[in-house]
Amino acid sequence: MARPACGMDFGTSNSTLAISTGNQPPRLVPLESGQPTIPTALFYSFDTDETRFGRDAMRTYVEGADGRLLRAIKSVLGTSLFNDTTRVKRRLLGFGDIVATFIAEVKARAEADLGHEIDRLVCGRPVRFVDDDDAADRVAQGQLEAALRQAGYHDIAFQFEPIAAALDYEQNVTREEIGIVADIGGGTSDFTVIRLSPERARSADRKADILSTGGVHVGGTDLDRLLSLRKVMPLLGYGTLTADGKRPVPSSPYVDLATWHRINRLYGAPVMAELTSTHKEAADPKRIEKLIAIVEGRLGHALAARVEDVKIALSDADVARFSFHADDVALDAPVSRDDLDAAIAGAARKIADAAHETLKRAGIGADAVDTLIVTGGTTRVPAVSEVLSELFPAARRVATDAFGSVGLGLAIEAGRRFGN
Ligand SMILES: Nc1ncnc2c1ncn2[C@@H]1O[C@H](COP(=O)(O)OP(=O)(O)OP(=O)(O)O)[C@@H](O)[C@H]1O
Ligand SMILES: [Mg+2]
Repeated sequence: MARPACGMDFGTSNSTLAISTGNQPPRLVPLESGQPTIPTALFYSFDTDETRFGRDAMRTYVEGADGRLLRAIKSVLGTSLFNDTTRVKRRLLGFGDIVATFIAEVKARAEADLGHEIDRLVCGRPVRFVDDDDAADRVAQGQLEAALRQAGYHDIAFQFEPIAAALDYEQNVTREEIGIVADIGGGTSDFTVIRLSPERARSADRKADILSTGGVHVGGTDLDRLLSLRKVMPLLGYGTLTADGKRPVPSSPYVDLATWHRINRLYGAPVMAELTSTHKEAADPKRIEKLIAIVEGRLGHALAARVEDVKIALSDADVARFSFHADDVALDAPVSRDDLDAAIAGAARKIADAAHETLKRAGIGADAVDTLIVTGGTTRVPAVSEVLSELFPAARRVATDAFGSVGLGLAIEAGRRFGN
């Protein structure tokens, strides 16, 4: 068999790997129980010393196994958190090793499916890993590249994720058009204005066809955080006062608990000491007790997952019930679509601004856009979807595979770049 050319979408929430061989259309390789996506999650078990991945990692953690869950590891690239270590029993793991471990697992699973080694890869990257800081953004790509090498890839190229989504869509284009790709995922919202046509689709170098790219570090995990801070963290005392009524209790533990990639920071002795003193001086110590129970029970990810469930339910329903029950804590609250909209209004505006900015950079008006190509799980959030439609009222809207189109496009790019 010819050496397959591969593309990997290393997503904040979900990852995929696709291959293109010969004249075959690209295809997504099954990565977990026959499914083409694998949640970007690892669980380091303290009981068995095993490392688990994807849905299996989340299930093991939720079932109460002792260990460390890591999610949204992509969000750490380029930030100061990257240099922190995570304690796994006696070992101190660096983030680079954690990212490499996940990538190596995806590689091994794909190789097992293909019966063939893979060492050449086009890896997706967001338009911006880090907002407003080009140096940190370069550092982030360097960290990802180092992890790819550590995982065993030799020939590595990067492509912007929204461009990859456009390449996948372009296979079905019959005439020249100007498209804007909106890829709203777990960690970032990425936009690309691109000229598409059947002829252009055959060319390897598309630089001249990319009219502009833009993006902002806002995605579904931010919506989870915002919804949590508005509707759930108050149940644990967020926003309440000290007993003397002079000041609110410290907010940082709540922000960490509501932010997927910061949850593990709470699980150290200094935070527990801080929470104990917060409890002593709180006007509403009962709520702080619930917060302490969640931190002590290492339940932060389970709580965040319930918030994410409510957010997802509100894509189809006007009301949903937030419900979290563990040994010592019971939390329940109705959440409406209006609550979600109010919580995420600022984030939706940032996404709209990024789209607007991208258009401006391309030097065209919204009315020049023929096609709005949407991908990424967060485009299912009604408020986000509406923002996009309002921005491009005249454009034909094309919904691609929300979870697969980036990976497929990266494999198309890999085929062109590396040949088959
Ligand atoms: N039906 C739904 N309604 C609302 N949000 C959803 C839905 N399905 C998935 N999501 C959200 O989509 C996000 C994941 O989308 P996706 O898999 O496209 O992201 P990603 O590629 O991992 O992230 P990124 O591209 O930003 O690195 C998560 O935040 C998830 O909660
Ligand atoms: Mg993505």
